This record gives sequence, C-alpha cells and structure tokens, in this order.
Amino acid sequence: MESATETIKRIFGDDSDSLGSEIAETTSRYDRLTKSRFPKPTRTRCIAVANQKGGVGKTTTAVNIAAALSKGGLKVLVIDMDPQGNASTALGAAHGSKDYSVYDVLEGRRSIHDVMQQCPDFPRLDVVPASIELSGAELEIAQVDDRNDLLHRAVDTFLKDPNSHYDYVIVDCPPSLGLLVINAMCAVTEMLIPIQAEYYALEGLGQLIHTIGLVQKHYNPNLLVSTMLVTMFDRRTLLSREVFNEVKGHYPSIVLDTTIPRAVKISEAPSFNKTVISYDPHGIGAVAYGEAALEIARRAPAVIRALKDKEGRE
Ligand SMILES: Nc1ncnc2c1ncn2[C@@H]1O[C@H](COP(=O)(O)OP(=O)(O)OP(=O)(O)O)[C@@H](O)[C@H]1O
Ligand SMILES: [Mg+2]
Repeated sequence: MESATETIKRIFGDDSDSLGSEIAETTSRYDRLTKSRFPKPTRTRCIAVANQKGGVGKTTTAVNIAAALSKGGLKVLVIDMDPQGNASTALGAAHGSKDYSVYDVLEGRRSIHDVMQQCPDFPRLDVVPASIELSGAELEIAQVDDRNDLLHRAVDTFLKDPNSHYDYVIVDCPPSLGLLVINAMCAVTEMLIPIQAEYYALEGLGQLIHTIGLVQKHYNPNLLVSTMLVTMFDRRTLLSREVFNEVKGHYPSIVLDTTIPRAVKISEAPSFNKTVISYDPHGIGAVAYGEAALEIARRAPAVIRALKDKEGRE
C-alpha cells in the first residue's frame, strides 16, 4: 500500500519535499513559540504603527502583534485611529455609527475607558474602535488649540488610573501624515514602521522619517523609531531578500530579524472578524507574527533604556 509520504509525492510531485519540510519547520517554530515566555516591560510601551504608504500591512501588523502579545500573557490596548476601521473589524469590535469610538475620545465627550471594548478572542486585549465618522475629525479639530495632543491627553489620563494597567498600547494609523497621525505620534513614545518587501519599499520612507523628525522637534521629543518590520516577504524571491538586506543595512538595530511572509490566511482572517493568531493559530502567518511579537517583547529593556536616555537629555 502507498505510504502517506508517497501519496503526497504523487499529488505534489517534486514540490512535496519542500512542502513537507515547510510544514515541519512551521510546526517546530510553533512549538518553540508556545514554550517561550513573553517578558513584561517595566513600564507601559506605547507604539504607533505608521507608514503613509497605503496597504503595506500597518493594520495587519497592529492587530496581530497585539493579539500575539496578549496571547503571550501581556495586557494590551489597541487604539484604531483609521476611519476605515479595519483594526476594529479584525479585532471583532463593534464600530457602527451608533457605537462610541475614538472620535468621541478626541472630541472630549468620552474617555478611553468609556469607549473601549474587549476583543472576543483575547481576554487581555481591549480595543478603542474607529468608525467612518472619524474622517470628519481632522477638519473639526483643525481649529482646536491643542489639536495635536488630544489623543495624548486621553491616553495619559487612562494610563494614570491605577485600575488600568497595560503592558502595551498599540495605535493603528491611517495611510496619511495628517492630524490623526500627528495625534498618534504625540500620544506614544515608539514608532513601528511596517515595510512591504517590494520594489518601491523604501520610497516614501524618507518623507516619513522627516515627518517624525518634525514631530520630535516641535511636539514630542521622546518619540523613538524603535521598530521596523518587513512584511509580505517571499523568501523564494531575490527581491524580498534584497529589500530586507537594504533596510537592515540602513537601520541594523531597528529592523526585526523576523519577517512576515505573504500568506493567504493572514488576508482571510479579517473577513471572519479575526486576527490570524485566532483564525489559524498553527499556520505560518500566526507563527511569524508570534515570533515578531516575542522579538519586540524581548527588546523592551534596550528600548526603554534608549527612551530613558532621550528623556535625560531634554
Ligand atoms: N503578510 C500578508 N500576507 C498576505 N496578505 C497580507 C499580508 N499583510 C497584509 N495583507 C493584506 O494586504 C492588504 C493590506 O494590508 P493592511 O490593511 O494591513 O495594510 P495597511 O497598511 O493597514 O493599509 P491602509 O494603508 O489602507 O491602512 C490587506 O488586504 C491585508 O489582508
Ligand atoms: Mg490600515
């Protein structure tokens, strides 16, 4: 009788060896990940996920890193600052026009505590949703005196409450460099920039770094670009490896060693109101995001030291 290995070989031909070894490799990476401990940071890390380029994996990264950290035992808050509301969708948070959202927080009508919802799949993950009404906020707050600091004040008040301890606050930004993104940059101390492994990957990165520099200079001197993550990586293509090497060459201590592969399950998950961490926990997408989250968590002492140095120099 034909063995399982022979059947796979018959169906998949010569590719079967590499398919089999990929599955085995993902399984052993999953096992290693489940045995790993996610260290708690010594203070709340607030991270904005931004890149003005559209579709590079900001939202996917924000929700899956948040889910993986929370699965690893840490307490996480995600703030959706994009009127598209994609992070709210992926995390299963209600965000219709009648639901309270980050819009109410920015306009001072509600606190973060009032509007946040618990993510159904992760008990330690809360979400401040965004709805399409947020698209009007940029114009409405343009006249307010402290327009850059509205989110910052709300987050500060929220974190000062001794009943709300969070290890990570992760803010998902829209693809622009407008007031909503400036508010996000003023509310956090760290930036996570996802970079898509494609030909024009570094185009626009200069503009983003320039804007971050302006925010550092004028509004938030404590802001640090702590993390870059290469997304939609295809390890079989030379281009993907070249993009990784180029970004790593420019920013060696910032770029995570983990890369996120292009994987169908990652893009399917949001249509089920899920992250890939809950939708396909053993798959390569969840494993890669889990490893990226672990790398972020393990770098906490070095990042917090760099932030303290920055604060000391003011
Ligand atoms: N690693 C991946 N593999 C496959 N598909 C992916 C991956 N990462 C993201 N995608 C898909 O690519 C599209 C863009 O991703 P995402 O929404 O995360 O980008 P974004 O930067 O947040 O976009 P926007 O600029 O519109 O906010 C989505 O359809 C998402 O499901
Ligand atoms: Mg997005």
